[in-house]
Amino acid sequence: MSAEAYGVWNKKASFTAPVYEKTPEQSARIIKCLEPSFLFQALDKAEMQTVILAFKEKVCQSGDRIIEQGADGNSMFLIEDGTFDCIIKFKNTGEEKVVKSCKQGDVFGELALLYNCPRAASVQATSTSTVWELDRDTFSNVVKEAASNKRNKYTDFLKKVNVLSNMADYEIMSVADAAKVEEFTEKDSVVIKQGDPGDRFFILLEGECEARKVFVPGSEAQKVMSYKVGDYFGELALLNNDNRGASVYTTSPTCKLLYMDRKSFGRLCGNLEDILRREAKRYETSASSNS
Ligand code: CMP
Ligand code: CMP
Repeated sequence: MSAEAYGVWNKKASFTAPVYEKTPEQSARIIKCLEPSFLFQALDKAEMQTVILAFKEKVCQSGDRIIEQGADGNSMFLIEDGTFDCIIKFKNTGEEKVVKSCKQGDVFGELALLYNCPRAASVQATSTSTVWELDRDTFSNVVKEAASNKRNKYTDFLKKVNVLSNMADYEIMSVADAAKVEEFTEKDSVVIKQGDPGDRFFILLEGECEARKVFVPGSEAQKVMSYKVGDYFGELALLNNDNRGASVYTTSPTCKLLYMDRKSFGRLCGNLEDILRREAKRYETSASSNS
């Protein structure tokens, strides 16, 4: 057999996802539930549609164990309605412990598919529940592939970002998974507006930006900082639970930013807090040196 037969192109061409028709309301609900999960954020519209159609409805009664710890995993689940407990049995004592309770909109059973390992926990319905089940093939061919493409695409870039230089490789990968892209196609677009509430931390991926600050209400904003590829901004509102301390504008015709929301920032960049706070001291002198 030729080497080509094993190629990615052939693998992709031979895969056909199952189709379970959905009403527009069901599709909208599934999209809403999947949106917060990093795994599904890398999907384009067509891929998302394939995934939505591939989800199969399953009804469970309270007490049903739909995942057994240690078993092979052939699907993952999204809760449409109801509640589940994730339970781990400890080898030494045989004791079972609920490690997580899941509710509507939560996803479970993804680990075995992501990492090709046995089920890490059992999952049991704690009420009459409806779940959407996604098969391993669709997950691997569509979701996992898009997620790992995104991971690979941004990991190399993030490794070169100065402020992240103390992060371990797996932490950088988690940042790549969680990051989203915002794109601007006009110079002088507002990325951040001084005084607004803010919940995004930005890293400049392509292009240039600058921060401008109004020091005395009513007076003109002064340029306080310029940003190039690999620089970050927008950390202060998150660190201090404060409104935005300056405005940030794009200064190149096109500009691409990676950003994390407050939740991901807290979870993934918590240990950067000291560095970020130390670095923030530069703002105290930046106005006089740039104006
Ligand atoms: P998976 O290992 O495929 O099957 C069991 C699922 O339980 C697992 O994926 C996760 O989705 C979920 N789970 C929730 N909490 C935990 C935990 N602490 N350890 C392992 N799995 C967990
Ligand atoms: P944040 O206050 O969240 O939003 C505006 C961002 O501009 C701020 O975080 C900093 O990252 C950045 N910035 C640059 N210079 C200053 C400055 N002198 N004062 C406040 N923020 C500044």
